[in-house]
Amino acid sequence: MNILVIGGAGYIGSHIVYELNDAGHKVTILDNFSTGLRENVDARAMLVEGDMQDLVLLDRLLGGNGATRSTGGTKANDGTGVAAGDIGPASAERFDSVFHFAALKAAGESMEKPEKYTSANTISTLNLLNLMVKNGIRNFVFSSSAATYGEPEYLPIDEKHPQNPINYYGYTKLAIEQAMRWYSQLKGLRYAALRYFNAAGYDVQGRIMGKEQNPANLLPIVMEVAAGTRPKMQVFGDDYPTRDGTCIRDYIHVNDLATAHVKAMEYLASEDRDLELNLATGEGYTVLEVIQEAEKVCDKPIPHDITGRRAGDPAELVATSSQALETIGWKAHHSSLRTLIESTWNVYRDDSAS
Ligand code: UFG
Repeated sequence: MNILVIGGAGYIGSHIVYELNDAGHKVTILDNFSTGLRENVDARAMLVEGDMQDLVLLDRLLGGNGATRSTGGTKANDGTGVAAGDIGPASAERFDSVFHFAALKAAGESMEKPEKYTSANTISTLNLLNLMVKNGIRNFVFSSSAATYGEPEYLPIDEKHPQNPINYYGYTKLAIEQAMRWYSQLKGLRYAALRYFNAAGYDVQGRIMGKEQNPANLLPIVMEVAAGTRPKMQVFGDDYPTRDGTCIRDYIHVNDLATAHVKAMEYLASEDRDLELNLATGEGYTVLEVIQEAEKVCDKPIPHDITGRRAGDPAELVATSSQALETIGWKAHHSSLRTLIESTWNVYRDDSAS
C-alpha cells in the first residue's frame, strides 16, 4: 500500500517507517525535523521536508500532487531531505492510508502551555482530517494515548474504561478520538485509535540509533545516568500504594508498537471497521525495578535520589490488550523489561566510552 507517515523521523514514527518498509509498503514521510532526526529516517522511504501545518503543502501531498515518488520512486531519501519547493512533477498516485506521529507529548508541559498543545495536537490534526476527507483518503492510523483514560477506576485498563484525562495532553488526544468517531459516521473515515501505554526501547535490529533530545521519560533518563552523561536521577515518590512504593507502568517496546500499526492499517483496509485499541503488555514494573534491572544490564551504578511525587502521576497504569489480540492478532513480543533496556542501552552505551 501507499502510505503517508507524518512525523516519520521522530522516535516512534521512525520505527513504524522501518516496519512498513519491511512489510513491502511504499512510504512517504512528511517531517519538519523539529524533534525528528535525519539519521533515523529509513533510506527506503521518500522524504518531504515540511510542516503539516502548511496546509497548501499538505493538500498537495494528499491530493497526489507533490510527493517525491512522482519522479518514479527513484528519488529515495539520501539523508539530506527534500525541500517542499523542490518536489517533482504531479502524480495521480493517492495515499491509501495516513499515519500521524507529529505531536507534542509532554503531559506536564501541556498543563502550562495548553495553547501550544491545542495548535500542535488538536488544530493540526483536525485540519488533516478535513484535507483527508477533501482528497478522498479514508484510512487513518492515529497515535492516541493511555493519557486519554486519566486516573484508573480499575485495573487492568480495558478499552471500555471511562476516558477522563487529567492533563491537557490527554484531552488533545481524546478530542481527536471524538472527532474521528463523528467523521467515521458522517464521512466514512476509517480510523484506528491506538492508545499507547509507556512507549520505550529502540529497534532490536539496531537500525535506529539517534537519541531523543532532552528526554523526559524514565528509561532514557536511566540510560543517561548509566552512560555517565547525567550524574544522577530522581525517583518521583516512594510512598505510592505499590509493592516498593514507586509508580508502576506498562512499558511497551516501539517495535511492538510498529507491528500493531501495520496490522491495524491492514485491518482498516480489509475489514472496513474502525479500531480503538490499547497497546500494552498487561505487566507493570516499578520505577525501582526498572533502575535495578538497568544496573544489571548496563553493569553500571545508577545513582538516584528519592524526591517528592510528580504532579499528575497515577500510582499504577497497566492495561489489557486482549482486544488487539482478537481484532488484529497482535500481542507484544519484544517488551520484556530486559529487551526494553538492552535495546535502549545499545543506543546509549557509546556515550559511556567518551
Ligand atoms: N520517573 C521518575 N524519574 C524520572 C522520570 C520518570 O521517577 O526522571 C517516573 C515517573 O514519575 C513515572 C514513571 O517514571 O512514575 C514513568 O514516567 P514517564 O515520564 O516515563 O512516563 P509517564 O507514565 O508519565 O507518561 C508516558 C508518556 C505519556 C503517555 C503515558 C501513557 O510520556 O505521553 O506514558 O502511560 F501518555
